[in-house]
Amino acid sequence: MASASSPAPGVTKIVAHGVAPLRAGQGYSFVLRRLHSLSGIVPVGAFLFEHILISNSTTISGPHAYERQVSFLANLPLVFFLELFGIWLPIAFHALYGFYIWYRGDGNAISYPWSGNWMYTAQRWTGGIAFAYILWHTYTMRFTGVDLHDNPWASFGKVQHEVFQTPFFLFYVVGLIAASWHFAYGIWLFSAKWGIVSGDKAQKRFLALCLGLFFVLTGAGLASLTALRSRPQQPFEPGTAGNSQITESR
Ligand code: HEM
Repeated sequence: MASASSPAPGVTKIVAHGVAPLRAGQGYSFVLRRLHSLSGIVPVGAFLFEHILISNSTTISGPHAYERQVSFLANLPLVFFLELFGIWLPIAFHALYGFYIWYRGDGNAISYPWSGNWMYTAQRWTGGIAFAYILWHTYTMRFTGVDLHDNPWASFGKVQHEVFQTPFFLFYVVGLIAASWHFAYGIWLFSAKWGIVSGDKAQKRFLALCLGLFFVLTGAGLASLTALRSRPQQPFEPGTAGNSQITESR
């Protein structure tokens, strides 16, 4: 459909190469778009980075290392409010507004300069898959079964119990790849939109860095999953002989 900015019939519209930074006054949803963009980096992206690269990686050193990390996180001051305002609400906002952007078909070829707009579609689908995965993962790990904040000793075994079941393991792998891609390519999008990295050459170099981050995140996540699956199932049900010294000394 023709819009006010469409060229007259027969006139070729010249589209500037590269990514136009967001500018004040471009549309009524400017502030929400900016907030959506920023929330993908901080706090949601920062949390994803910590979760995969720091906390989950401790599984590689075994059940006790993982238990110590979970115990450390569970004992942070005001942990419930940290989770609520630092993780759940920002993810809910980013995800719901993300679905709205998707539904509206917002965004344009200038922001996603690659052929066929594959990256535009991939950014939406990886967000959707990550959303399904995050809902499932939070429900099973945080709100069902043994409470890991009160029983960090059960952490390794509880995650193992899930990833030993092939369908769930595959869901973990798909969720990990989707979230890693969405975040890594999202950093590139963010930098281009906010005018942090501009110019063709710089953007191409930065894209290579972001792809590198995608492989690092995916590799670290797969290494954690392998560590979980390569050890015998650890106890995790309340009442089993799994309590370690960390729990006892708390
Ligand atoms: C793992 C959690 C998530 C992280 C770390 C994350 C991070 C990011 C980042 C850094 C961006 C780039 C910001 C920008 O476009 O300027 C982005 C964009 C986007 N995200 Fe997410 N996101 C997550 C989950 C989701 C979910 C669940 C959805 C729901 C569909 C979603 C939908 C979108 C959309 C549609 C864009 C592109 C916006 C545009 O083209 O302007 N994201 N995300």
